[in-house]
Amino acid sequence: MGNVVELHHAIVDHYLTIARDRDSTQQEFRKSFDHLGQILAVEMTRDFPGDANSVDTPLEATQGFRLHARIALVPILRAGLALVDPFVELLPTSVVMHLGMYRNEETAEPVWYYNKLDEQVPVERAVILDPMLATGGSVMAAVEALRAYGVAQVEVGCVVAAPEGIQAVQEFDADVDLTICKIDDRLDDNCFIRPGLGDAGDRYFGTA
Ligand code: PRP
Repeated sequence: MGNVVELHHAIVDHYLTIARDRDSTQQEFRKSFDHLGQILAVEMTRDFPGDANSVDTPLEATQGFRLHARIALVPILRAGLALVDPFVELLPTSVVMHLGMYRNEETAEPVWYYNKLDEQVPVERAVILDPMLATGGSVMAAVEALRAYGVAQVEVGCVVAAPEGIQAVQEFDADVDLTICKIDDRLDDNCFIRPGLGDAGDRYFGTA
């Protein structure tokens, strides 16, 4: 079974509270997401593979380490875009492969509108980025697409997730690791995450 990691960190609690606050401005919401993305990126790259090698400091040679894996960052449009920059900052040689889908408001099922994975050079490892994991439908569709494209190692980074969605993803693919700033209480009757933070895409991009 894949790992589920929930972050326990004062900075996460602080900025998540700002993101949840209905009275936060768009600027405050964006800034809080930038910080949450930075911490997610640090946590999710903790054990990324690399090569041990030597480096010359101004004083002497010592043991060094350089990341080597070809990593794909896979934001699910739109809201996943909010998490891309913090990851690219740490992984400047990563490639970004967008997947476009939105959730049908009545069925809560994902509806695809963009997928060009079959035109890309294969990668060893993919990090799906989506701040919200509600039913898990969008993440499962992304995992399925990445598996079909031949990615062996798939992991997911989220800001908030519902327990129901986490379970669904684990049952769908037992090898997917999830890193989540905060596991929320539940899904409501409209398949919204509670207590949640509203519609992340709308709040981040300033759309209604
Ligand atoms: C939201 C969110 C996730 C999805 C989560 O996207 O960003 O992609 O719903 O729901 P699920 O786990 O039940 O699939 P939305 O449809 O609001 O699109 P947007 O990112 O373009 O706003």
